[in-house]
Amino acid sequence: MSKDIYIHGTEPSEQERLAGLNRMTNAAFIRFLDVPAGAHVLEVGSGLGLLAVDVADAAAGVQVVGVEISAAQIAKAPAHTRVTFTQGDAHTLDFPDGSFDVVYARYLLEHVADPARVVREMRRVTRPGGRVGVCENDVSLIRFDPPCPAFERAWAVFTTFQSALGGDGLIGRRLHRLFRDAGFTQIELSVQPEVHWHGSPGYVAWVHNIIGNLESARTGMLAAGVISQADLDAGVDELERLKTNPTGSAVFVWNRAAATR
Ligand SMILES: C[S@@+](CC[C@H](N)C(=O)[O-])C[C@H]1O[C@@H](n2cnc3c(N)ncnc32)[C@H](O)[C@@H]1O
Repeated sequence: MSKDIYIHGTEPSEQERLAGLNRMTNAAFIRFLDVPAGAHVLEVGSGLGLLAVDVADAAAGVQVVGVEISAAQIAKAPAHTRVTFTQGDAHTLDFPDGSFDVVYARYLLEHVADPARVVREMRRVTRPGGRVGVCENDVSLIRFDPPCPAFERAWAVFTTFQSALGGDGLIGRRLHRLFRDAGFTQIELSVQPEVHWHGSPGYVAWVHNIIGNLESARTGMLAAGVISQADLDAGVDELERLKTNPTGSAVFVWNRAAATR
């Protein structure tokens, strides 16, 4: 079920995009998570395992378990003495109540059939007084300048296609509601900004990542007939040109929620 929802797939090119996104965003997420030394931590939807390994290295003696639905993603995860990966579904976490000090998910809730159930499961496996943190997408918050109308048309199709698969690319705006409905009362919302411009260190990598998002869904969108190849190519080409445009800039924010159980 959830595997088919995952709009990006696990092709090597997509895994390379995800690894690049980890290189861009892990440090900020680790500051947000603020994991204490010795904590027993769960990552739900651990993908390539790159964030789990960085979380394990963020403080002394941290142990991380990563749950991931895709064997192809787990197969690429790096080895680390304090990190283990297990194949499983975020909707039905195979751990007793209160098993972890810290439970987090990043870029996962947009890809699951029932995000409310996943957040409830995350809360269930967190010990009383433990922490839950998530960081998610609201793809409507993306901005490029000079304007990229062909990209914007392709991005709108991408967003609708993700919804048709059963995901929700706008879920970042719903985090407070999801956390309240799961039973959390001490909730903090925040954002992680992505602000890049031509000549700044992360600019080309960020634009490349957004192109990669479209490319990861190319086969599916064309097969479904939701966009023509010409329109998709026009959106991609526009962003390729933006990479080298000396006046180009990009702004986005990730939505985050943290709560104490
Ligand atoms: C965009 S990746 C993010 C991976 C990682 N959290 C990170 O930040 O790099 C989302 C991952 O969630 C996994 N996933 C999707 N649905 C899932 C589910 N129901 N249970 C567990 N993992 C799931 C996908 O296979 C994919 O590896």
